Formats: sequence, structure tokens, C-alpha cells
Amino acid sequence: MKRHSFVTALCLSSVLLSCFTPIAFAAIGRYKRWPVGGSTRFYEFKVNTMKVTKLCHTRDIVTVNGLYPGPVVYAQEDDRVIVKVINEAQTNVTIHWHGVRQRLSCWSDGPSYITQCPIQPGQSFTYEFTMYQQKGTFFWHAHVSWLRGTVYGAIVVYPKTAVPYPFPYPYEEHTLIFGEYWDMDVVKQEKAVLASGGGPPPADAYIINGHPGPLYNCSTNDFYQISVVPGKTYLLRLINAALNMEQFFSISNHKMTIVEADAEYTKPQIVDHIMLGPGQTYNVLVKADQPIAKYEMALGPYMSAQNVTFQNISSIGYFHYSGAAINSLTQQALLPQFNNNQIVSSNLNGLRSLNVTNLPLEIDTNLFFTIGLNVHKCNRQNPNKTCQGPNGGIFAASMNNVSFVKPTISLLQAYYNTINGLYTSDFPGVPLKIYDFVNGAPNNIPNNTNSLIGTKVHVLEYGSKVQLILQDTGTVSTENHPIHLHGFSFHLVGSGTGNYNPATAQLNLVDPPYINTIGVPIGGWAAIRFIADNPGVWFMHCHLEVHMSWGLAMAFIVKNGVGPFETLPHPPADLPRC
Ligand code: C2O
Repeated sequence: MKRHSFVTALCLSSVLLSCFTPIAFAAIGRYKRWPVGGSTRFYEFKVNTMKVTKLCHTRDIVTVNGLYPGPVVYAQEDDRVIVKVINEAQTNVTIHWHGVRQRLSCWSDGPSYITQCPIQPGQSFTYEFTMYQQKGTFFWHAHVSWLRGTVYGAIVVYPKTAVPYPFPYPYEEHTLIFGEYWDMDVVKQEKAVLASGGGPPPADAYIINGHPGPLYNCSTNDFYQISVVPGKTYLLRLINAALNMEQFFSISNHKMTIVEADAEYTKPQIVDHIMLGPGQTYNVLVKADQPIAKYEMALGPYMSAQNVTFQNISSIGYFHYSGAAINSLTQQALLPQFNNNQIVSSNLNGLRSLNVTNLPLEIDTNLFFTIGLNVHKCNRQNPNKTCQGPNGGIFAASMNNVSFVKPTISLLQAYYNTINGLYTSDFPGVPLKIYDFVNGAPNNIPNNTNSLIGTKVHVLEYGSKVQLILQDTGTVSTENHPIHLHGFSFHLVGSGTGNYNPATAQLNLVDPPYINTIGVPIGGWAAIRFIADNPGVWFMHCHLEVHMSWGLAMAFIVKNGVGPFETLPHPPADLPRC
């Protein structure tokens, strides 16, 4: 896909304060400005079902506007984006704008039962937000059950007019959105996995822009290809929209220069392979500087946990030089071994922000959350079918040993309208038991690791300067977890292996990357910082969908500050009913 021209921007100045920056507001200061945009961009998303034929089967999938992957949302920094989502499918839906910080627009964030109830079949809801001081590569996806397995698309936000990229302008740009394809309905898949108590079956294929590529059955011609002109430089926008797998990507014989991570510029980092966990986006530059030929682009598994079955066939696309014969031999891409943790940590350690703004040096709120899997004791009928977790137990997952349960009315509505009984505010700021997190379980009962089950939130005062340590546990198996925070980007000030030790941890307070999803190293930790200056309810969870279903999640409530620029507005009138 070539660089598209912008969808015509319309301006409804009588209805929305979106066609100008109010001078009185702008004068107040950088963080005290109401986040209104330059232009307003309207989209209509019809969520519907379409037939697709992949891997020798035809089936119905839920998509948006009959496209798979769904339509790209284009905007420029500071634009107002309005998307009317009309649910014409037979299933509940919400859309989350992954990486969009939703300043003062928590109602439009989209996670079901966190900021809204689902849009039911036949209903619609209009999301409105501003790309306030944000540009780069994002994506949108459904945030109900496992529906994002098919309901996703890219968001591409350009700099303001006449603001250049901090690197030479690429000849062309292409968006590559990675996914997993399932022959089964993904919503039924979630129910089946939870009912089994065990792990999820592997995806039937990995896909690049919806295409599995020639290594899969019936897919010889179902591949994605970029035609390149020798000598030119290409900007690739890489997005991992997979459900349950972290993935490696590489292009044979070509280096990639990372220039952006999670829609924030980085110092250039040159790599042969890149690992993206679900929820991560990278922009890379690739120069077509090799002999004229057809080169493979390969997408394959990164699985750091032990004893997990996963799809091991790579998805292949092509980086095809003009002048290379269609049938010319292809140069094979080599992917790292599925468990090559070394490459993952060296990429992560090389990630540096281009410019740092707003990094809190003094911290007033120190948090420490463990993350990992659990096993619950089998208490179900028919254990052979329903307790297929480790040692005949039921799989679960937790943060600080609390397995999150979604409430029946969204947390944001419960909080805003002071509805009691839906959640408690006692999510612990530190683990309730201190033990050797990486090497030891909290107790020695192999089929019951006793996580608490509940809907607990952690409340932050407006403007809190937070440092949060995320610590992987070895309770079931250590594993790299892509932890995503809604409503903020955070500064990744440190990461390492083993248990976090404040005495020895090296923190980067100079140029830490500013991201929204961190692959916490296997059996290790990550230290993140952010200022809680966006009021609302913000979900934080593992972006491996099955881990979220098992409870690897929590929510922050960020209280209002003082005055209209620090206060969450009223809910929109069309907010879906529960
Ligand atoms: Cu992209 Cu709550 O997630």
C-alpha cells in the first residue's frame, strides 16, 4: 500500500470546537490546554461479517467495512478523530484505539466493562478523541472477548504540515500488520479455552496484512508483497495485532533501522530481527541496497515459556526488487530460534528515546506489581474436560496475585456515578507476600497457587509521579509478558533479569524509550515511570489475550485534579447501555 492521501477532512465548527485552537486555552500552557485538534477527521466503521477463504476453508469473520485487516485511520498530530461505530454484526463489540493517550476522553478508550459496556448488535457509538501531541503508528482493535483476532486495523498519524521526520524522507511507506488466523470463531475459542481450564490451541496461521504466505496449505498465492525500487529507502510501519503470540520479523539480507517504537521517535537502532509482542508497533527504515532479487519477509514465533504448543510455520511475504524475475529464486529469511531471549533483550536494551520530555525524576508513588500465571485447584464437574491446566488444575493469571474479573457495568460508569458493589479500591501497591518471585512459588501446592479472584483497582491522585516495577514470576513458568497501559505512554527507565533489586538496578534517566507496551523480560523485571495526569479509569493488562482472560490485568483510577483541564468531562449521550 502506497502512502495514501488524507481522507477529506471536514470541519463542523458549529458543533465541535475542533477547527481552531482557542487562543485563551492555548495561552495557559503546555499541559493546561484543552486537547482540541487542528482538523477533524470523520470515519464510519460498520462492524459486519464477511466471508474469507484461507487455508482451504471458507468461513465468516467479523470485520469492519468488509475489509480484512480493517480500514486505516489517517490523521495528523493534534487532529480530532471522530469514528461512528455501527454494529451490524451478531456479536457485542467495542473498539480500542491502542496507544492513543485519550487525554480527557477516557469515555472513548474502548475496553469493554472498563470504560464502557459493549455496543450491542444493532446499536452504535461514536468515539471522539484528539491525537493530542501524538503522531506515528498506532492501531485500533476490538476490546471484547477475543474479537480483536479479526477486528483490527492501523492508525497512521502524520506530523503536522511542514514538520519533517527526524530522518531522511523515505521513498515510500508501507504498513505491515501482523496477526494470527484461526479457523474457528474467536469468541467461541475464548469460551472453549476458559471451559477447558487449559491452554489455548495454537493459531492456524500467522498472517501479514491478512496473508499467511506460501508455507501454509492452499496459500501459494495468498501472500503480501512490497515492490521496491533498487537504491530507495522504505519506511515500514510494523504492528503486532496477534492474539496470543509474540513474533519475530525479519527480511532476508536486509538490516532494519528502528526509528520509532509505540508511536514515539527513537534514536536509530540497526537490527537484523525485531521482536514484537502483541500491542507493540515499530517503524523501521529499510534500504533496498542488495543485489536485485526477490527477498523473503518472515514472521515467526517468539515463545519464551516452557511446554507451550504454538504454531511453528512462518508467514512469508516478499520484498521484491523491480527487475527481479517473478520466478527468480527467493532469498530465504532466517528467523531466530523461537526461544532466543538474547536477541529480545539486546533489542530492548538498545531502545532509546530520541528526545525526552516530561520524565519524572522525583517519584512520589512507588508501586511493585508481580505478573504471571497461576493454577487453581480443580473444583469443576468432569475434570478430564474442564481441568486441563497443569497437574489437573485450572489455568489462571494475576497481577500481585489478584486475578482480575471484569465487572458487569463498566468501571468508569461505576466510578463516575458512584455505583457501589462493582469493584473494590484495594488493589495492592506491592505484593502481599514477598518471596523469591522468579524461582519460587508462593507455596508448594503444585495444583493450586491461590491467587485472589476479584475486581480490584488502584487509585492514584491526580498528578502522582509514579514508578512501577513489573516483576515476572516463575509460579507456573517464567515468560515474556507484553504489558500494556491504557491512557498513557510510560518511560521505560530500566529492565533486567532475575528479581528486581533496587540496590543494583541500573536506571536510565537520560534517554529512556517512551512506550505503551513493555515486553517484561522472561524471569525479569521492568521499571516504568509516568505522571498520572489524565483522569479516568485506565486498564493495564498483558496483551496476550489468553492471559488477560485468565486475569492478568488491573485498572488504575486516576482522580480529577483542579479545574476543567484536569477533570474528566461528562459521558457522551450515546454511551452504550449495559
Ligand atoms: Cu491493545 Cu487493552 O489493549
